[in-house]
Amino acid sequence: MCGIIGYIGTGDAIEVVVEGLRHLEYRGYDSAGIAYHNGSGIDVLRCKGKIRDLEGLVRKSRPVASLAIGHTRWATHGVPSEYNAHPHRSNNVVLVHNGIIENYLELKKELAEEGYTFTSETDTEVLCHLIDSYCREYGFREAVEAALRDTRGAYAIVAISVRDPGVMIGARKDSPLVLGVGQEGFFLASDVPAFLTRTNRVVFLRDGEMVTISGEGYRITDLEGNRLERETELVTWSPSMAEKGGYKHYMLKEIHEQPRSLADTLRGRVFPERGEVNIAEFGLDEERLRRVRKIFIVACGTSWHAALVGKYQIEGLAGVPVEVDLASEFRYRGALLEEGDLFIAITQSGETADTLAAQREARRRGAFTLSICNVLGSTSAREADSVFFTHSGPEIGVASTKAFTSQLVALYLFSILLARVRGRIGHGESFELIAELLRLPDKVEAVLSGEEAVVRVARELFKARDFLYLGRGILYPVALEGALKLKEISYIHAEGYPAGEMKHGPIALIDEDVPVVFLMQKGGLREKILSNVSEVKSRGGKVVAVAAGGLPEGFEMADYSIEIPETNRYLEAVLMAVPLQLLAYHIGVLRGCDVDQPRNLAKSVTVE
Ligand code: AGP
Repeated sequence: MCGIIGYIGTGDAIEVVVEGLRHLEYRGYDSAGIAYHNGSGIDVLRCKGKIRDLEGLVRKSRPVASLAIGHTRWATHGVPSEYNAHPHRSNNVVLVHNGIIENYLELKKELAEEGYTFTSETDTEVLCHLIDSYCREYGFREAVEAALRDTRGAYAIVAISVRDPGVMIGARKDSPLVLGVGQEGFFLASDVPAFLTRTNRVVFLRDGEMVTISGEGYRITDLEGNRLERETELVTWSPSMAEKGGYKHYMLKEIHEQPRSLADTLRGRVFPERGEVNIAEFGLDEERLRRVRKIFIVACGTSWHAALVGKYQIEGLAGVPVEVDLASEFRYRGALLEEGDLFIAITQSGETADTLAAQREARRRGAFTLSICNVLGSTSAREADSVFFTHSGPEIGVASTKAFTSQLVALYLFSILLARVRGRIGHGESFELIAELLRLPDKVEAVLSGEEAVVRVARELFKARDFLYLGRGILYPVALEGALKLKEISYIHAEGYPAGEMKHGPIALIDEDVPVVFLMQKGGLREKILSNVSEVKSRGGKVVAVAAGGLPEGFEMADYSIEIPETNRYLEAVLMAVPLQLLAYHIGVLRGCDVDQPRNLAKSVTVE
């Protein structure tokens, strides 16, 4: 997610914008820029790197301005670079943007036919040229309205124009933008922290709204120009709370971001009306998918758990054999990988040393490498033959949450694509699988609305010293993930196990002090897992049942139960992960742990 800040008023606009960008640094970024009216036109300063690099450029030109806009870029289209950094310019129009314009390639083709040339790889530059093209026949505000009506996708923009030196326009759809109303002027930002030190009077703009700010004040309209009345509200957060969106920790913010991060992962990846996956987003070709003999998926930690889920999805839907390896093992076990095999690296950071080494080894041995990664410009993304970006936005908490569920969705999309290309599933089944996928963000929202039930369980169990997480089938890797989440942020010893393995040893651990979390799918394995529950109960174990579609009528064996919505058997893993993330988080907080920065852990393990 990029950071946006704009200011118009009686203060020093450059100082306000640079300070605002600093308050947005926590979001993660790879380049930055600023634009400001200089009295006769608009200057734009941009650089790859950090705010301090941008400040160096600003100091050199020592500008004074009453209107300026700034941006920190988290790359989604186009590598981190000066030429891809925002603000972007098209003749009189200068723009910063956060989001993804889905139809930017179509628009780019049309604009090129009108004679526009492009200096970046970004979707943002296309939007800037589109607004400029409308400025030929409309005023600035009407041109922005017309251009936004032409776009599909997500945007939060702030735009200024040479011809309208006292005007700043903001607009949003599926990407946050907030108006700040201060004593010294008006602010537009992607997030409150950018200007909270200067005003706490805000208007959170809603999807489809635009705001035009000038010396006379501000006017909120829809994209047809109809005026909308919106009251200001007061933000009572501290600046530190504001950086976490009002949540106590980044981890909780990122858990609650998942309906949106999943929507961002999906954006532009499916054609719902056709029930098809957009193969171009994987950088693969149908012939390769048709020919592939075996798939290797390699990762570490939480990403390895995603790989294990991916095995169930790919083999279940596409019927192609999948081998999953921990990256640290793959390199030394003499994997039978051959030329033409497909090697998938899953890595949120794109910098995990073991995963990179495995990816390089696979490439050296002639495999085609696909990276499922969250960070553009990262080493894994740059070195792979093709990349699928999860677009879940910066993940600040060390414990991976939203990146994990985005990885599961990426593998689900890949499985449908592979199954369709190889004729394993028909159009009807593909249509249904994608329709259910599009309902997923709302179902995750429903799980999150049940957080209180999870908090109650955490309050009962946070003093336990050992936990067991049990699941069957595709939920076994989710049991592993639940256990990892708990152990890495609460320091409680926790193990994930296949429920069917209980009788082969782990059941010896069961007594009234060992809570056992059962993941209970709706489908065929439900009966078997119920018998596992009774084995535990009959030995005095405490049972936490996380059940898709709720527990069977009269089910008395669970001491605590958490219900999640039903979905298909491949997406149950996504919905099941969320209550386990919340359980780990709340237990960690109750135990006074630093849940964002757990002891001994780093966000990216860049050494072997
Ligand atoms: C996840 O909660 C952990 N922080 C850790 O296991 C992580 O998943 C692992 O280090 C892999 O990181 P990557 O996805 O960036 O490669």
